[in-house]
Amino acid sequence: MRIAVISAEAVPYSKTGGLGDVAGALPKALRRVGVDSVLITPCYWQTKGEYLWSTAVEDLNVDWRGNVYLAKAFYSEANGSPTFLIDAPSFFHRDSIYGYREDHERFAFFNHAALVLLQRIGAAPDIVHLNDWHCGFAAAEIASRRRWDRYWQKTRTVFSIHNMAYQGVFGTEDLWKFGFDGEYERNAFLSNGAASAMKAGLSLSDTLSTVSRRYAVEIQMPENGYGLDWLVRQRADRLIGITNGVDYEVWNPRTDQEIGSHYDASNLEAKRECKRQLLEQFSLPVKLDRPIFANITRLTAQKGIDLMMQVAGEILSSGSFIISLGSGEKRYEDFWQSLRDYAPQQVGVYRGYNESLAHKIEAGADIFLMPSKFEPCGLNQMYSLRYGTVPIVRAVGGLDDTVQNFDSIDGTGNGFKFGPYRSDKFLERIYEALFAYADPDTWRNIQLNGMAEDNSWENAARKYVELYEWTRS
Ligand code: ADP
Ligand code: GLC
Repeated sequence: MRIAVISAEAVPYSKTGGLGDVAGALPKALRRVGVDSVLITPCYWQTKGEYLWSTAVEDLNVDWRGNVYLAKAFYSEANGSPTFLIDAPSFFHRDSIYGYREDHERFAFFNHAALVLLQRIGAAPDIVHLNDWHCGFAAAEIASRRRWDRYWQKTRTVFSIHNMAYQGVFGTEDLWKFGFDGEYERNAFLSNGAASAMKAGLSLSDTLSTVSRRYAVEIQMPENGYGLDWLVRQRADRLIGITNGVDYEVWNPRTDQEIGSHYDASNLEAKRECKRQLLEQFSLPVKLDRPIFANITRLTAQKGIDLMMQVAGEILSSGSFIISLGSGEKRYEDFWQSLRDYAPQQVGVYRGYNESLAHKIEAGADIFLMPSKFEPCGLNQMYSLRYGTVPIVRAVGGLDDTVQNFDSIDGTGNGFKFGPYRSDKFLERIYEALFAYADPDTWRNIQLNGMAEDNSWENAARKYVELYEWTRS
C-alpha cells in the first residue's frame, strides 16, 4: 500500500502547532509498521536550508488558473521518511506561515502542485491522506479527476480533522478561478453563501478521521461543529477517531538534547536539576520545594486562557510559581505580562515561539495546565505525562481520552481533570494537586502513573493502517 500524506506544516520543516508534530511523525511511524509513505508539504521561508539536502529534484510547471507557475520540489528525509517540499516563493516565502487574506489561494495552489508532483514521480498512491482545511482542495480535485483521469481512478482519500474551528472560508467567486466550477465540486464547497475548504474535504473524501475518539463525537454536536456538525453526522459512518501519538525520539526526558539533566522513571530525582535550571533561566528564586505550574500554548480562546486568568491569583497566593510560554491574542499576551509585573518573583513569561524552551519547561515544571474550551487532541498533556509533569486538564476531546483523574484511594490516575468550563471547578483540581504535591509519595505515584503511559506513534500508526485498508475496501 502506498500512502501520500499532504499537510500544510510538518516537523522539522515547519510548525505552528500540533498539526506540524503529527504530520512530521506519522509518515515515519507508518514506515516503522511497514507502510510505504511519502510526505508533501510547502517549503516556507521559515524552512531551514539544512533540511534541503539535495538540490531541487523536480522543476514543476504548474498550470493553474490559466497561468503557469514555476515551482520546485526539494527532497529530504530529515523527518525519517521521504518528503517533498514544494517551493513556490510568491506563495510561501512570507513572514509567517498563516494569517494572510489569500491563505485559501496559497493552499489551493499547494494542493494542486502536490497532485502534479505525485503524478510526476510515479504511480498513483493508493491513499492520499489529507489534513485540515488546507487540504480540502485536493479532496475535491481527486474526487473530480477520478471520474475522467485514469491515473487517479484507484486512489482513495482520507481527510483528517485536526480542528473544526478553522475552515478556510472564502468568497465563492474564487471557486471558478481554482477550477472548481462544476456543480459537483461547487456544491461541496458551498457553505452559508461562501466557500469552505473544510466542507469540501468533509464532503468529498472517502473516509474521515479526527484526532481523538472523544472529539469524533463532539464535532457531531453544534457546540463543536462550527456549522458543519450536520455534515459530520451525515458522514458519521465514514468517520473514526484516532488519538495522536507522541514522537518519543523527540519528547523523551531520558534522551532530550534540549534539557540539562536526563531522567526517567527510575531516577526521577534528576528532574529537580531541570527545575533548578528552569527557575534560573527565568531569574526566579531557586525554591525547589515550591511547585511550578506551566503552560505552553498558542494564546487563543480555545486554550482556556480566560480560566487561567481567573485562577492565576489563587495559584500565586499558594506561593507557587507560574511559567508561561506562548504568543497569540494581544489581550492574553498583555495578561501574562501584567501578571509578571505584579509578581516578578513568582511568574516567568516568554512571549513568542521557542521550541527549545518548550522542552525545558516540560522537564522543569511540576504541573501542566491545559483547561481548554475544546481540544481535538492536544499534545502537551501527553508530553507532560512522559516528563513527570502532572497535567490538570478539562475533560474535553483528546484531553479526556488521555488523562485520568487521580484517585487517592487506589492510587490510579495520571493527572487531574474537571468538567464544566468554570474557574471554581478548575480551582478544585488545582487545590487537589497542591494537596497531593505536599506529600512526596503521593506525588511520585501520580508522576510514575503518567510516565508509564504508552502514547507512542506506533499504536496510532497501526490504527491508521486499518483506516487506510477500510478506505480501500
Ligand atoms: P495546537 O495544535 O492546538 O496548538 P497541541 O497541543 O496539539 O495544540 O500542539 C501544540 C504544539 O505546539 C506542541 O508541540 C507545543 O509544544 C507547541 N507550542 C505551542 N506554543 C508554543 C510556543 N510558544 N513555543 C514553542 N512551542 C509551542
Ligand atoms: C489541532 C488541535 C490540537 C491537536 C492538533 C494535532 O491544532 O487544536 O488539539 O492536537 O491539531 O492533531
